[in-house]
Amino acid sequence: MHENFDGIVKPNSPEGELLAAIDPARLPQHIAVIMDGNGRWAGARGKARIFGHREGSESVRAIIDTCARMEVKAITLYAFSTENWKRPKTEVSGLMSMLKRVLKRELKTLHGNNIRFQAIGNLYGLAPDVQAELAAATAFTRENTGMVLSVALNYGGRAEIVEAAKKAAEKAKYLRKL
Ligand code: IPE
Ligand code: MG
Repeated sequence: MHENFDGIVKPNSPEGELLAAIDPARLPQHIAVIMDGNGRWAGARGKARIFGHREGSESVRAIIDTCARMEVKAITLYAFSTENWKRPKTEVSGLMSMLKRVLKRELKTLHGNNIRFQAIGNLYGLAPDVQAELAAATAFTRENTGMVLSVALNYGGRAEIVEAAKKAAEKAKYLRKL
């Protein structure tokens, strides 16, 4: 694992020391990130929220790159919850177009790094163009055998309970007919 950082992290730098302290055998297999604080980051710098989202997407790039080098098996990014629809229309559309743009831009790199992309959550609730971009990225990286990158969109605890209850009801209906 350490050799994956050769030429990236200098041995005697603070990062190098942190890296040296990592025992690959004790690294988690799956890391999940709840993305938060973008707006506050921007606000603290007197900038519009969308700048914070842009900066957040840069952080995500670094996280994905680092996790892939650390040979983590899976990473899940919680990016947009069902509650996030309540935000101003311009912010929602800004986030959605950024998602499409970043995905398109990073797809070759993801693929080149053998990363398998997938989107999770209630994807049917997303705009058709966003769904199409997600489907394209999923199909493009389907055969990859490296890290699995899941992006959670339109996800929510409440939504998941509703889905689970619906499925259970369907199953009960089916079983009753047997
Ligand atoms: C995370 O940052 C990005 C999304 C959930 C879309 P926030 O937008 O929640 O930023 P804060 O919490 O308002 O600072
Ligand atoms: Mg927040």
